[in-house]
Amino acid sequence: QAYEKKKRLYELHRQTANYYYKILKTTPSAREYLSQRSISQETIREFGLGYASEDWSRLTDFLVTKGFTLTEMLDSGLVLASESKRHYDRFRDRIMFPIVNPRGQIVGFGGRLMTTGQNGPKYLNSPETPIFSKSYELYNLNHCKNFLDDGQILIVEGYMDVISLYEKGIKNTVAALGTAFTPFHGKILERYANEVIIAFDGDSAGKSATEKAMNILKKTSLNVKILNLPSNEDPDSFVQKYGQQGFLDAVAKALTIVEYELGLLKKHNDLSQTDGRLRYGNEAINVLKQLETSLEVDYYSKMVAGETGINQEVIRREVMRSKKRPD
Ligand code: UTP
Ligand code: MN
Ligand code: MN
Ligand code: MN
Ligand code: MN
Repeated sequence: QAYEKKKRLYELHRQTANYYYKILKTTPSAREYLSQRSISQETIREFGLGYASEDWSRLTDFLVTKGFTLTEMLDSGLVLASESKRHYDRFRDRIMFPIVNPRGQIVGFGGRLMTTGQNGPKYLNSPETPIFSKSYELYNLNHCKNFLDDGQILIVEGYMDVISLYEKGIKNTVAALGTAFTPFHGKILERYANEVIIAFDGDSAGKSATEKAMNILKKTSLNVKILNLPSNEDPDSFVQKYGQQGFLDAVAKALTIVEYELGLLKKHNDLSQTDGRLRYGNEAINVLKQLETSLEVDYYSKMVAGETGINQEVIRREVMRSKKRPD
């Protein structure tokens, strides 16, 4: 019974996505918006992008003609009820991004305003429903799982990062949707990948999200790296500017967690001063304690020794002395 109900919701989403897709075809302003963002017709089709018109109840009216009940529409989160019991569409005047699960079922939508400012937040997502939970779903996992030759997945922030990279031939990406990256997301990625690269926006919001995701991913079996973008770029803007090869070069230079954390320490300590070097050395030892093998400890001890002038063997011994995890 619960299963039948879900099946109806999947079907409602499928028909809605087709409907949004058709409306996009006949809405020049929306097509123009996507073409200005360098999204080709083929990619629009691949991602099933659409457009929700500005009318208050165009989707609601359409779903009625398709035989869906008001209860089903409200359960889907795509239709809302006002105080006066009138029904209206959640998504209006937005570019629509269907969220597809790995089984190919559409479980929700994200929608972007073409011009931000007046009519609500830039992006609006489906609410939690019987078939959609933001803390489980990863955007583009349905495509991504077919492009994992190297067992590597890039985690980005947004829909447009995924789509823009796809347009440039980089297809092993997923995005967590308008919410923090969760331990569930980590578990899901563990099933598909060996290595993940966190490629969030270069701004301060992206940096703090990077640290949170990093700390979640540390607890998985995944090998984790961090792509450090310039502060005014996100993967979309970066690949538009520097192209596929420029982006892949940046991926190749992605930092290990320890390199990234040492980099943060270096920002807070002046290594041209003795006291700065010593403080950095002490803090670095704490970072190195998370390393799992003595090989890695040896490698990074040498690196920190080079940066501080402290003897490598002294650093290595301090790291090993009270390591959090034994080898
Ligand atoms: P960003 O603000 O970085 O947007 O949010 P973006 O992905 O670069 O989008 P463009 O390039 O302006 O089109 C990253 C992600 O955070 C969520 C969305 O999932 C978005 O893709 N978000 C952002 C929201 O859910 N609501 C918002 O109002 C903004
Ligand atoms: Mn951002
Ligand atoms: Mn963001
Ligand atoms: Mn962004
Ligand atoms: Mn962007």
